[in-house]
Amino acid sequence: KKYVVGVVGASGAVGEEIFRVLEECKFPVGKVVPLASARSVGKEVEFEGRSYKILETTHDVFAKEGIEIAFFSAGGSVSAEYAESAAKAGAVVIDNTSHFRMQEDIPLVVPEVNPQDIAHWHKRGIIANPNCSTIQMVHILAPLHKAFAIKRVDVSTYQAASGGGKSAMEELVMQMQAFFAFKLDEVESVKFPHRLALNVIPHIDVFMPNDYTKEEMKMINETHKIMHADFAVSATCVRVPVLRSHSESLTIQFENEVSAKQAQDILSKAESVVLCDVPQENLYPMPIFTTETDQTYVGRVREDNFDKHILHLWCCADQIRVGAATNAVRIAQKWIEMQENGK
Ligand code: A2P
Repeated sequence: KKYVVGVVGASGAVGEEIFRVLEECKFPVGKVVPLASARSVGKEVEFEGRSYKILETTHDVFAKEGIEIAFFSAGGSVSAEYAESAAKAGAVVIDNTSHFRMQEDIPLVVPEVNPQDIAHWHKRGIIANPNCSTIQMVHILAPLHKAFAIKRVDVSTYQAASGGGKSAMEELVMQMQAFFAFKLDEVESVKFPHRLALNVIPHIDVFMPNDYTKEEMKMINETHKIMHADFAVSATCVRVPVLRSHSESLTIQFENEVSAKQAQDILSKAESVVLCDVPQENLYPMPIFTTETDQTYVGRVREDNFDKHILHLWCCADQIRVGAATNAVRIAQKWIEMQENGK
């Protein structure tokens, strides 16, 4: 069977990547329906050698076009407005925004970690795709937790501009151009709370009453929901002047003693994870290696100097792919597998 696939946010950074991932994995697409705002109507999207006109996102378009799988990546307010119309029209919605993620009857899925939760999709017709930093972190944590039982995780992120969408990436590029024109002092910061070029900003999304940012709380709450675990997690989320791969430094405390070698063995076999850990040859994950790939890269795995229950490691993954488009498409593939096996 081939499916009618709608992409809401087709002109955005994640939407464009969803088309590329669908092509690459030979997803069973009958027809694609690119959707965006009225601003983009008439623009075209190339898919498998054909061009498709972008249509306006409306409440009726999902039924009218017969959309069966609807990817949403146009921001929380667009999902809030239209996702339920898409589900009512019979589509399974795979939502990239944070809007539905923590609602109890909405599965929040990383296919390598909790594919079984997809079975609950029919409650609302919506499956949520987690936050980008959470996805790459649970790729690493899930196999380690299964093997050694995690007690606590402390993570600091180094997040690329792409998390803020296409215009955020353009803002960083414009600021870098301004630097070389000796005009950096004149640039405006619209997408970030401060200038990002030649800077790092320890502030992503809004501050909450507990002085953590919403992004930091997403990493904590979403990790618990995806992993069905409640170990302690603390996060510090930082924006860095990188275009499109997020990096993370993790300190993981286990219930038992764990050697770096044991953890490397587990990670080398983990699904969608690549162990890249040869420090003697200066080999460790970096955004310049991970960009435009579909795996989470992990390295710098090392033991704590004071406590045998603690390991430190470093991971990197393409935010637009692993953190958004690829995870969403993998959810759709698993959903199809379940439908076709009658689950
Ligand atoms: P448009 O280009 O027509 O504004 P990014 O995350 O890269 O910033 O992209 C955001 C995506 O969300 C774009 O495809 C954008 O379309 C889409 N979008 C923004 N607002 C709306 C809206 N009100 N209805 C539908 N799509 C929207």
